Parts: sequence; structure tokens; C-alpha cells
Amino acid sequence: MNNRSAIICLVTTLAASALCAQAPVTLNVEVSRPKSAVSPMLYGLMTEEINYSYDGGLYAELVRNRTFRSDWTGILNWFVIEKGTASAKVTVDAKDGPSAALPNSARLEVTRADANSPAGLLNEGYWGIAVRPNSRYTGSLFAKSDSPGPLPVRIALVADQSGQVLAKASVAVSGSAWKEYKFEMQSGTVAASSENHLEMTIDRPATLWLQLVSLFPPTYKSRPNGNRIDIMEKLAAMHPAFLRFPGGNYLEGGRIDTRFDWKKMIGPLVDRPTHPTTWSYHSTDGMGLLEYLEWCEDLHMQPLLAIYGGYSLGGQVVKPGPDLDPYVQEGLEEIEYVTGGTGTKWGAVRARDGHPAPFQLRYVEIGNEDSFDRAKTYDGRYAQFYKAIKAKYPNLQVIATMPVNGITPDIIDDHYYKREQGMFEEARHYDNTGRNGPKIFVGEWATREGTPTPNFGAALGDAAFMTGMERNSDVVIMSAYAPLFVNVNPGGMQWSSDLIGYDALNSYGSPSYYAQVMFASCLGDETVESNVSGGGDKFFYSVTASKGTKVCLKLVNAASAAQPLAITLGGLGAGTHTAQLDMLKANTTWATNTITNPNRIVPARSKLTVKGGRLEQVLPPYSIQVLAIDLK
Ligand code: AHR
Repeated sequence: MNNRSAIICLVTTLAASALCAQAPVTLNVEVSRPKSAVSPMLYGLMTEEINYSYDGGLYAELVRNRTFRSDWTGILNWFVIEKGTASAKVTVDAKDGPSAALPNSARLEVTRADANSPAGLLNEGYWGIAVRPNSRYTGSLFAKSDSPGPLPVRIALVADQSGQVLAKASVAVSGSAWKEYKFEMQSGTVAASSENHLEMTIDRPATLWLQLVSLFPPTYKSRPNGNRIDIMEKLAAMHPAFLRFPGGNYLEGGRIDTRFDWKKMIGPLVDRPTHPTTWSYHSTDGMGLLEYLEWCEDLHMQPLLAIYGGYSLGGQVVKPGPDLDPYVQEGLEEIEYVTGGTGTKWGAVRARDGHPAPFQLRYVEIGNEDSFDRAKTYDGRYAQFYKAIKAKYPNLQVIATMPVNGITPDIIDDHYYKREQGMFEEARHYDNTGRNGPKIFVGEWATREGTPTPNFGAALGDAAFMTGMERNSDVVIMSAYAPLFVNVNPGGMQWSSDLIGYDALNSYGSPSYYAQVMFASCLGDETVESNVSGGGDKFFYSVTASKGTKVCLKLVNAASAAQPLAITLGGLGAGTHTAQLDMLKANTTWATNTITNPNRIVPARSKLTVKGGRLEQVLPPYSIQVLAIDLK
């Protein structure tokens, strides 16, 4: 595989162009000679709040800045409405809010308004608000007023351009004490669009205080406070075995006090203070610890819980020893929240939050990318967490974010972010890794070419890298691409080359996404003996099998010329076997999918017959194939 193979070009006089093909490759596979185990956990997901992954992304909340944060320009994402002769102003009331976590509110003072001249507030949503036909929207808000009687507050989803009211509701705010109000509204036969906003208006002079104004569309599996259906369906198609959360840098925070402080991200939303993230925007924390776990539950993924390990991205470190003890305790309690029965302190809190049944947990990770810790304290910090966790939860596998001295971690998390060429080289990274050390979790990896989402060259780098992980899956037991999501609107992205892109209305998979869907769709439980001759340095393959059931061949031709390939499948016998071929290909490495052209590069499926254990294929230029041969 190391030599660039000869390319033979036939110049066609008619077309005055060249049809090029590489020298043929011969691939011999011994179907019934197992070589090494393949981990059923190999393909999972990694996620954190980055690129508007949850807020303005997976987390289906439609109202942006529902807690009325402000800067010198005023309350962010909210604007005053004064229709007709109405007069109103909005300020932040820093001293009056519905809870200790949300001690402030928006104070809307309407001095002139009537039925024809209402006044109120407008929310712009996350680059618009998606409204679909015949859909139910579920909302809630906290409010109080100085009005002597009930104050009707009209709420509407309104089309930006036409002003058409697409759905509406009303709540009667009564009294000067904070109360929660709930409402529902229904759209009719409108065209799906994201060029819409939310309006909340009153039709008389009054002062209205508002906090935590929330609106959800239908969510995946109808979960309250749930996730976007289109994005969850895309994730489901990847058949992920686990979810690594909550980061990434988001776990660490810029400072210790902006870490993923899980206790502030559970329970009713009104008790969640929200916090600044490492990725230059503020998190609503609507995606809290239980929501991550329910996301796992919905997609049948195992949680891989990353615990804050005492290092924050800005360089703050908690020294191992007594200083670290409270953080170790916080981690143990987090594990209890996830796994404890309702008789335990934190298991009971989880039950109070709506999930009495404990979650299964096998993997925890201590920190993230601790090789950046200039004080070099990870050996001590990891050991302290490891001993405390193993003492209470001996069955948990404790992942380290870098090699550790003094203690042998169960698993080490390796990260790879490279260009296409770099990932081709990394495809062989684990071929010579010792098999007696810790297992490897490739907790973040991506070929970084293309923005906001990877192009086809990146998909080729990814596919090549995946063949290497599959070949070595006895040691590489888990892997996850990162980042998973990006909101493609201007300002939505902090990190380029992200697997799945979206705006308020639509989402799409990058070529890299489809490569992963294809690879995960056929994963045997063992690699089998194979050898190849004649392939150049842009040909990659892996072969796995499940005894008596299937053989999975992954074939990658990253060259610009076609690759003829003769495959022999020893052990298949003289008969015929059906096979399913999924192929992803493009004309250039720069070809890609976008939010407006989401289906340029999608897998094409066809059927093949393998006769007498032989198969001849020509891999098109720039192509990725997954061939599933039925052994039954
Ligand atoms: O995936 C983006 C970032 O890359 C992660 O937050 C961090 O762990 C890595 O450096």
C-alpha cells in the first residue's frame, strides 16, 4: 500500500480526453480465518456546546435569550414593539426574578396602548424561528404585573416579511407575584419557513415583568424540553454506540467557575442559572445532565460521561491532594446521579427530576486534553479520581486524556485533527501499537478540510482513517468524530469542518457524515486475514466479518483515477452470495453538500452477486465503498 501505483491513461481521440486507471489491485480475504476482535463500541458520538450545537441546534428551544441577558446595547435578541400610537420601553430589572438562579427579569413598561395599538416585545429566535404547517408549539413563561386585574398577554409567531400571524395564544397574567404560565399554539396550512419571529404584546398601559420565555416545536419522541426531530433522525442513522459528553473544552470551562457544573444544570429550568461557555457564547443549560442521558436513552447509546478533572482551559488548575477532594466528590456524586437507585441521595434527585430508573454507565473520562496543563498535574489528578472512583464503582472504566505515570489507565483518549494527507498517514497509526497496554479511545478526530462542513477530500481522509481504526479495533475500542454540529448561519461557527450542518429549519449531512453512516452500517465482530498487492498510497481498505452472517468490506480510492480491483474471498465456497454495495463518490475533493444543496453527495445503493468467492470491481475516482456480503 505504500507505493504510489502506476496510472495508465488511454487518450480517446474523439473526446480528446484521457481515461485513466491505476494499475489493478488484488485483494485476498480469508473469510473464515479470524485475526482480531472488533469492538461493538467502535463508532459513537462526541458532543459539547460549540457552534450552537444545542442552543440554536439540537436543543429545540425556539426563543433566543429566554433569560433576558443584556449588554450595553440592551437586552440581547429582544426588541420593543410599538404598533400604531403605542409607547413602551424595556429595561432589565436586576433585582426581581422568579428564582435564586434567575434573579433578574425584563421590565416592560407600556405607557400607551390599546387594542389597535398594542405594545410588547419581539424575539428574533436563533437566526429566525422555524414554523411548519399543522404543528403544535408548547410555550411557558414566568411573569408578574402591576395591573389591577388580569393582564392578557398575546403571543404570536409572525412571518417576518408579510406580518401574517402563523400561530397564536394568550395568557392572562394576574398579580404582582411571580407565577409560571403555560400555553400552546397551533399553526395551520402555512408553508414551512424560518423567516419568522415571536411577538408578545399587551393592549393597555401596564408594567409587565417577564422571565424564562420558552417555546418548543414538536420534539423527538415528544420529550418536553427535548430535541429537534430532523437532527435526531440524522444521528439515529449513524447507529452510534455511545455519546461522549459534555466535552471537550465545554467541560473544562475557561475558568473553574465556568466549568460544566452539573448540579446547576439539573431540575426545573427556572433553577438553572445559565453560564458562559468556552466558545464565546452563553449557554442556556437547557441541555443539562439529565437531557444528555435521555438523548442517550432515545438513541440507545451508552453514556460516556466526562467528569471535570480540575483543569480549565484558561490555565487554572486545582492541585492534586486536599484541594482536589471537593471536585472528586462532585464527580462521585455525578456518577451517583446517573447510576444510583432512588434510595441514594443523588439517585433520588434524578427521580425528582423525572427519571427514577438509573442509567447504565460503563465509561467515565477524567478531564479533557490535559496535556495542555502547563503545571503538569494530570498524573496526580487522574490518580486521585481513579482511586476514588474504583473504590466506589469498581466496574467503571476510567479513561485518561493522556498517558499517565504511576497508574495504568483503563483507556487513553487520543485526538486527531488533520488535513486529508495527514489522515491518510494516521490510517496506519495503530498498526504497530502494542496490545498489552491501555485500550485506546479516539475521542475526537476529523479531517479538517471544508467549512462549515467537511468536503469530499475530508470524507476520503476520514474513510481512510476509519479503515485503520477497524483494522486495529482490538486496541481502538471506541471513536468519535468532532465537532458533531454547526449552525451554518453567520456567526454560528467557532470551529470549521463539522459533521452535520443546520439552520433554524433544515439540516444536512456532510460527505463525512455519510461515510460514517456507511461504515457503521456494516461492522463485523472480528477482522479476518487479508492481504493486498498492487495498491497505491491512496487505496485503503478494511475487512471485518461476523461468523456465518456477513463480511464487511470497506474500500477507499482517494486517487483521481479509477482503481481496478480483483477480490478473492477464500472460505466462501463455490456458490453465490448476494451483496449490498453502498457507494459515495464525487468529481473533486472540493465537492461538498451545503444547507441549500444537501444531497449532492449521498450514498447510492446497489445489489451484487459474488460467485465462487470472486469479485471484480472498478473503484471510481474519489470513491468510498462499503460492501456487505451475506453469508447466510
Ligand atoms: O472539537 C473541538 C475542540 O477540539 C474540543 O473542544 C477540544 O477537546 C479539542 O481541542
